Amino acid sequence: MKPVQILHLECSPRPEACSSRLGRHLSAALQAETTAPVQVRLRALGVEPLPALSAAYAGSLILPIAQARARYGEQLALSDALCEELAASDVLLISAPVHNFGIPAVLKNWIDWVVRRDVTFALTAEGKIGLLADRPVLVAVTSGGAMFRDPPAQPDFFRPYLRAALGGVGLTRIEFVEAPGLAFSAAPEEAVDALARDWIRRRARPAA
Ligand SMILES: Cc1cc2nc3c(=O)[nH]c(=O)nc-3n(C[C@H](O)[C@H](O)[C@H](O)COP(=O)(O)O)c2cc1C
Repeated sequence: MKPVQILHLECSPRPEACSSRLGRHLSAALQAETTAPVQVRLRALGVEPLPALSAAYAGSLILPIAQARARYGEQLALSDALCEELAASDVLLISAPVHNFGIPAVLKNWIDWVVRRDVTFALTAEGKIGLLADRPVLVAVTSGGAMFRDPPAQPDFFRPYLRAALGGVGLTRIEFVEAPGLAFSAAPEEAVDALARDWIRRRARPAA
């Protein structure tokens, strides 16, 4: 049986991060849902960040892919590997805290390495078109303060940005599992555990 591939990005710099804790609950639940073997590719971007973009990579994005490869060759290897990893995944799982109303810089850096002309998106007369097959994207997101409220207490650049950036490469099936207000919780780990249990319960028995 073909293994289910989960690409899991952890984006907090904190080894004991609540977002990582929440994401690992979701990962375990996803694995429990299937009878197929599961392979998890974990990238701890928060503690082992990717390098900053190179001049070669930035230069390659203004060229069609054949010219980019001819000119920059092996200098595109990291982006190639990250794009292949993403393309090979059946599920993308992202664990990330809110940092200054948006996504952590390490996640933005990963996005910059994988939003790749003629590899994950194409330029057409009508604009950019995503080239990846759509797949579920699950985002475990934590915040210290009151985020994700209506009316908003803080501006939310996290969810709209991720929807736009991932949508640009063809990934539109994005679900956010939000754990806001953790700075006000006496037991943030327990709060995250309860939230995960609730999400798993709702997923097993969706509302009619
Ligand atoms: C650099 C930085 C910026 C932050 N910006 C925000 C913010 O804009 N809004 C908010 O509610 N919390 C903010 N926080 C708090 C974190 O989102 C919060 O502590 C979260 O629970 C951390 O999750 P983690 O345990 O996964 O690292 C910020 C934290 C850091 C380190």
